[in-house]
Amino acid sequence: MFEVKYKEQLASGIFQMAISAPRVAKKALPGQFIILKIDEYGERIPLTIKDNDPGEGTVTIVFQVAGKSTLQLSLLKTGDMIEDFVGPLGNQTELPDSKSRVVCIGGGVGTACMYSQVKELVRRNSAVTAIIGARTKNLLIMEDDLKEIGAELIICTDDGSYGLKGFVSNALENMLQTGEKIDLVLAIGPLLMMKSIADVTQGYGVHTLVSLNPIMVDGTGMCGGCRVTVGGVTKFTCVDGPEFDAHLVDFDELFMRQRYYLDEEKLAKEKHSCKLNT
Ligand SMILES: Cc1cc2nc3c(=O)[nH]c(=O)nc-3n(C[C@H](O)[C@H](O)[C@H](O)COP(=O)(O)OP(=O)(O)OC[C@H]3O[C@@H](n4cnc5c(N)ncnc54)[C@H](O)[C@@H]3O)c2cc1C
Ligand code: FES
Repeated sequence: MFEVKYKEQLASGIFQMAISAPRVAKKALPGQFIILKIDEYGERIPLTIKDNDPGEGTVTIVFQVAGKSTLQLSLLKTGDMIEDFVGPLGNQTELPDSKSRVVCIGGGVGTACMYSQVKELVRRNSAVTAIIGARTKNLLIMEDDLKEIGAELIICTDDGSYGLKGFVSNALENMLQTGEKIDLVLAIGPLLMMKSIADVTQGYGVHTLVSLNPIMVDGTGMCGGCRVTVGGVTKFTCVDGPEFDAHLVDFDELFMRQRYYLDEEKLAKEKHSCKLNT
């Protein structure tokens, strides 16, 4: 069992939790994820490791309530137990050497998913800029965390309520238009956002990584649930990824596969919400 050591609501429907998992905390590297199961009847859900503290033995996750399991997770309190917490899974991000210029882009809850890479790049004294975005000011997360580690920050909101008005892809394009040399762009967020970033950087020939989030079940390469096509080759996101060359990813296939279980997911959330209300 794994104890919830700390819980905080960051924005509407977005929560941060530190969980006691000493072995995962000791080994976790930027870009990796865990799979947790809340209780004996729970489903396995993958979540990115936002941060880890080997000394305290804790792993921090940030999640958005999307359906039944994340809703259930959001209702746990400090001191509650999580049945299973497996990780670290997936590969660490291949970060370039410290002389390289890197731009890390996070959209929505993806902002927390790229925090560990920015932290590592700042630690290495790399030239790194974080571009973070949300639909509106109240949904923006990680601003203070990123400032605290000394990251250079560009903030965007779709509605212009805070920072630059527009999408994170617009802010990136502005940077590229100035002729600034960028060695790597890392983008994590909604599929549509990652595809837009890939479209922008392709025109400038900038190497770009995206962190994919297809449906996962076992997380160990056995079920095939997380398969994606990259450069015409089938890859399993859990063991070959989660990050891939954005210019080789078949985004259309991924959009289609993510919608497979929409009806079942809606029903499960409705049933769980009904149980909570009775
Ligand atoms: C490698 C990886 C890292 C992720 N990291 C984060 C994170 O740090 N924070 C965060 O908020 N979300 C993250 N996600 C997405 C998260 O796993 C889903 O939001 C969660 O599983 C939804 O479960 P649910 O029961 O609440 O919602 P459901 O109603 O079951 O599903 C809602 C939507 O979530 C996605 N989803 C559902 N089940 C899974 C599953 N088993 N695997 C992957 N996606 C699923 C689907 O797009 C689905 O339409 C990550 C996904 C992957 C693959
Ligand atoms: S989650 Fe089963 S193969 Fe990746």
